[in-house]
Amino acid sequence: KTIHLIGAPTDIGASVRGAGLGPDALRVAGLPQALRDRQLQVIDSGNLAGPPNPWEPPRDGFRHLPEVIAWNRSIYTAVHDALTAGQLPVLLGGDHCLAIGSISAVARHCKAAGKQLRVLWFDAHADTNTAHITPSGNIHGMPVACLLGHGPEALTHLGGEVALQARELCQIGVRSVDAGERAFVKELGFEVFDMRYIDEFGMRAVMELALAGTDSNTHLHVSFDMDCMDPEIAPGVGTAVRGGPSYRETQLCMEMIADTGLLGSLDLVELNPALDVRNQTAELAVDLIESLFGKSTLMRRAPADGP
Ligand code: ARG
Ligand code: MN
Ligand code: MN
Ligand code: MN
Repeated sequence: KTIHLIGAPTDIGASVRGAGLGPDALRVAGLPQALRDRQLQVIDSGNLAGPPNPWEPPRDGFRHLPEVIAWNRSIYTAVHDALTAGQLPVLLGGDHCLAIGSISAVARHCKAAGKQLRVLWFDAHADTNTAHITPSGNIHGMPVACLLGHGPEALTHLGGEVALQARELCQIGVRSVDAGERAFVKELGFEVFDMRYIDEFGMRAVMELALAGTDSNTHLHVSFDMDCMDPEIAPGVGTAVRGGPSYRETQLCMEMIADTGLLGSLDLVELNPALDVRNQTAELAVDLIESLFGKSTLMRRAPADGP
């Protein structure tokens, strides 16, 4: 399957500027070549164009809503076209509001193809705010709510209908949830493997649960917010929260997903090169993506049921 890299150079939904530099930082860190070195076919169609960031205060609970809609429309089209061409789209963000466009396209495609969809959302945050409960108005804090049907019509119906049902989504790594958002996450009822759960049960058990019920008819979408990881290893993000998964814990997630062979699409978002240290967070992203596409350190068979 050909991997199609789609750059979306914008920080339109973010609280800090700089995520718009993400796609090129990933290229500088060697992403296309790293995938080609794994014998994968890669198309890099460059960066999408969209409105500049006007850096305005919120209006009616949203910052930059018209611009967020414009970016997500063009991402929706690019991702849907890639899926229709039989490719595996990789969205290079950009901030996390862009997952509205990519996941809406994936959901539409899965419905048409009769595929079961499972979205794995790696994030320090729940990203489930609405205009009524957001503390910031930043739309990168709202994509999950929009994808589940709560938000402005232009974002909840990009694909003609609401993209996701709660049972199709699970979150991993969450440790920062706003007060109103907490109640709303519970009400919506999707699965959240927060840091306390990961601490108590371990990443392997978490991933087994996150992948439970998938089969050969499943399309796995990974929406990976770089702030999911501990900021000691991933400093190049705009909304860092301490106490995230380690390098190896995150690699294990990627390797277990690769083992399923079900990955159908990916978002790599919230990389902020303006806050990074010698591009190390972009290089970390490349390491993780290599594992997600099958690079393995295994010297023996993967353990099936424990040692
Ligand atoms: N919960 C905060 C907000 O809504 C932060 C969201 C951060 N989201 C992200 N994708 N980094 O403003
Ligand atoms: Mn996020
Ligand atoms: Mn389609
Ligand atoms: Mn986040």
